[in-house]
Amino acid sequence: MLVTESIDEIRNTVKLWRREKLSVGFVPTMGALHEGHLSLIRQAKQSADRVVVSIFVNPEQFGPNEDFDRYPRKLEEDLKLCRKARAAAVFRPEVSDMYPGDKYFEIKIRELGRHMCGASRPGFFEGIVLVVNKLLNIIEPDIAVFGQKDIQQYLILKQMVEEFNHGVKLEMGKIVRANDGLALSSRNTYLSNDERLKAPSLYRSLSYIEKQVREGVDTPSLLIEHQKNELEAKGFEIDYLGVFSMDNIEPVEKLENGRSYILAGAVYLGKTRLIDNILIEL
Ligand code: PAJ
Repeated sequence: MLVTESIDEIRNTVKLWRREKLSVGFVPTMGALHEGHLSLIRQAKQSADRVVVSIFVNPEQFGPNEDFDRYPRKLEEDLKLCRKARAAAVFRPEVSDMYPGDKYFEIKIRELGRHMCGASRPGFFEGIVLVVNKLLNIIEPDIAVFGQKDIQQYLILKQMVEEFNHGVKLEMGKIVRANDGLALSSRNTYLSNDERLKAPSLYRSLSYIEKQVREGVDTPSLLIEHQKNELEAKGFEIDYLGVFSMDNIEPVEKLENGRSYILAGAVYLGKTRLIDNILIEL
């Protein structure tokens, strides 16, 4: 497995593969890899001959009071896991290579960034679009895999790829969960033992709302308020919990048959932010 910090070296490696008519898959990550990331690498292996994993904690997608400095960095363990999942290369650029100087251009996101995480983390999706745009230009993969765990990220990037004619097909990977239902996340390591025990309540609330919706509740707002209260009583602070339309990520009051929805929540447990979602096609 090639491990490189160099933009030129990863570019040249991919070019050589292409000359051999090998297809290329790409899984961008910020490292501290867990089974969720590995499932994306395996999925990419199914669709492509060679898989590149990037490991880059992207400063542009962290707000000034967020956890950039304490975000977990575990390169040696990550490389072992990438080898085991049969990645062909790991691209791990330095911040100074990705962002070498003044930036003369700026990304702006309209509709898709107004709600859910876009509402509470200004600049977050702009930072993601910036870095993924650069990474796709460097690797030029045939396919790239992103997790449903970050559904708004996936939908925004899908639109970016279409609107800016990146020649890549995006695939979405399923959410990998711990046995008690908690969605795996690199940030779960921040949780204290007590918080870790409480954390699956977010998924339980979403699952409860999903069940009611599937049984015919078409205006779930009261139900959602009730689940918010229950989570607050357990010590969670709610950022958002609600139903959003899959096509434009707008909040939805009344659900209709034949449409797709994102039932999503973001909460704080102590200082740790947890997100989760369930997709519902009616
Ligand atoms: P990161 O949080 O490291 O996640 C990398 C990829 O793994 C994303 O596509 C994410 O949705 C997916 N993922 C995370 N947890 C998962 C889980 N439990 N099950 C399945 N997939 C999961 O997302 C980012 O990094 C960054 O924003 C990035 C796209 C790399 C741009 O910097």
